[in-house]
Amino acid sequence: MKKPAIILFAASAFGGLALLAQTPAAPAGGKVDFEKEIYPIFKTKCLKCHETEHTDATGKLKKPKGGLIMDTVEGLKKGGKESGEKTLVAGKAAESELYKVTTLPVSDEMAMPPEGKGDPLTDAEKELLKKWIDQGADFGAWKGAPAK
Ligand code: HEC
Repeated sequence: MKKPAIILFAASAFGGLALLAQTPAAPAGGKVDFEKEIYPIFKTKCLKCHETEHTDATGKLKKPKGGLIMDTVEGLKKGGKESGEKTLVAGKAAESELYKVTTLPVSDEMAMPPEGKGDPLTDAEKELLKKWIDQGADFGAWKGAPAK
């Protein structure tokens, strides 16, 4: 009767492993959806200053601040004048300026949005942004905001 016992043991061990593999790492689990969860944050808190160059309703030319365009995939990948490819390092939020600037104390000159120029990200928004970058900064089907 040795064999069946081993088989049973192996089967239950694998079953246990399969269950473990299915358990999400964090309670919130799942992949962050850029278009639904991240872009709305950019839109309300960053785009005022980081939109693709365009002329506004009064005919004034608006250039993206710091050379950073946040309403296109290319712009986000290319990054800003100072940070370049360190702006968004896929898989590494801790190295991404895009995330780091949102976690600085508001009094820091590189804090984003700049002090008094908009609401800082909430802890939940920062956490989501971090998670999206750590998960690989995948834009999904998003192709950028419609041109103005
Ligand atoms: C009121 C305008 C304004 C808003 C809103 C704003 N920024 Fe900025 N941002 C700036 C300015 C101005 C600079 C250039 C600062 C400098 O170079 O000293 C800048 C620069 C940056 C840079 C550095 C770019 C580089 O490489 O030079 C990053 C990253 C950045 N912003 C991210 C953000 C994020 C993320 C948000 C939204 C949470 C945001 N910004 C909202 C004005 C703004």
